[in-house]
Amino acid sequence: MGEKWTADKILDLSGKTIIITGANSGIGYESAREFIRNGAEVIIASRDPIKADRAVLRIEEEFPGAKLKFIELNLASLESIRKFAGEFKSNYDRLDILLNNAGIMMVLYGETEDGFEYTMGTNHLGHFALTGLLMDRLSTTPGARVVSVASNAHYAGKMDFNNLLFENGHEYTPMKAYSRSKLANLLFTYEIQRRFQSRDHGVIALAAHPGIAATSLANHLFFNKISWLIQPAMKLIFQSSAMGALPSLRAAVDPEARGGMYYGPGGRGEKSGYPIVVDSNSASKDEKDALRLWERSEELTGIRYLD
Ligand SMILES: NC(=O)c1ccc[n+]([C@@H]2O[C@H](COP(=O)([O-])OP(=O)(O)OC[C@H]3O[C@@H](n4cnc5c(N)ncnc54)[C@H](OP(=O)(O)O)[C@@H]3O)[C@@H](O)[C@H]2O)c1
Repeated sequence: MGEKWTADKILDLSGKTIIITGANSGIGYESAREFIRNGAEVIIASRDPIKADRAVLRIEEEFPGAKLKFIELNLASLESIRKFAGEFKSNYDRLDILLNNAGIMMVLYGETEDGFEYTMGTNHLGHFALTGLLMDRLSTTPGARVVSVASNAHYAGKMDFNNLLFENGHEYTPMKAYSRSKLANLLFTYEIQRRFQSRDHGVIALAAHPGIAATSLANHLFFNKISWLIQPAMKLIFQSSAMGALPSLRAAVDPEARGGMYYGPGGRGEKSGYPIVVDSNSASKDEKDALRLWERSEELTGIRYLD
């Protein structure tokens, strides 16, 4: 067995600029702490200013002088995504790491501001649009990385290009939508990496999954009226958010990491443990589906990536 990869392995990140979506809680929050601990400048991209301010205060208390900024981002709104990208770009010339972490899981059928099914709209289309709008900063920052947080749930995911967004709730179930969105995160990662390879800007794309970690994600569960009870129970059963953040951190900073790699916990069933390179299913590597998803995502969001 190789040496365990822990957050102590993170090298100095001074001078690096990092955006984390959904960094006010869970895995995103823990990732922000570690990036800050190692000297990076971190942008907390979150939809709720109150929760984000609380997260910023907690990190600043722990790391006085932390370079930390909150910029509002609602991935369920193309207008908000455009506003976020504009504000970021008018203040920052570089983007070393874009950590596409935010997500919702197992919600009742609903639609984003732009009429996309809520889970696919937030978890996939929102990040697709965000990454596209930030490409100019990524492509001019040496060694930049795009890391997307997927899930073991991708194994249950099925693409259906005749009804990609469960139009009007047709054939919708919370699990189908979540697993499709997580499969989409991987199809997106592998497709964007293929596109990066044919350019000479040196940006790479990777994916990570946390196994099962005790975070706020279960609060979204459509049947969950007892999150106050589930939260403490989860903490007893599952690994911590800090452990869950390690695969994302490794994908973001390990000098050995290469484009297209997927990190997850090395324990049994990839549920917990220290991060290693893991595999994903054949559906996630289907190049035709990846291309179709890319083209549909461009059509739906109106975002075209720079050549
Ligand atoms: N925890 C696990 O066991 C597990 C397993 C597999 C994969 N994952 C993945 O890990 C990632 C992080 O989840 P987590 O477990 O850390 O859960 P979490 O604590 O609930 O964090 C999710 C974050 O996403 C944010 N978010 C949700 N919708 C958003 C939107 N429209 N715009 C901007 N931000 C939004 C949330 O903001 P609010 O606080 O405002 O809701 C929160 O900050 C997700 O992609 C999830 O699918 C988690």
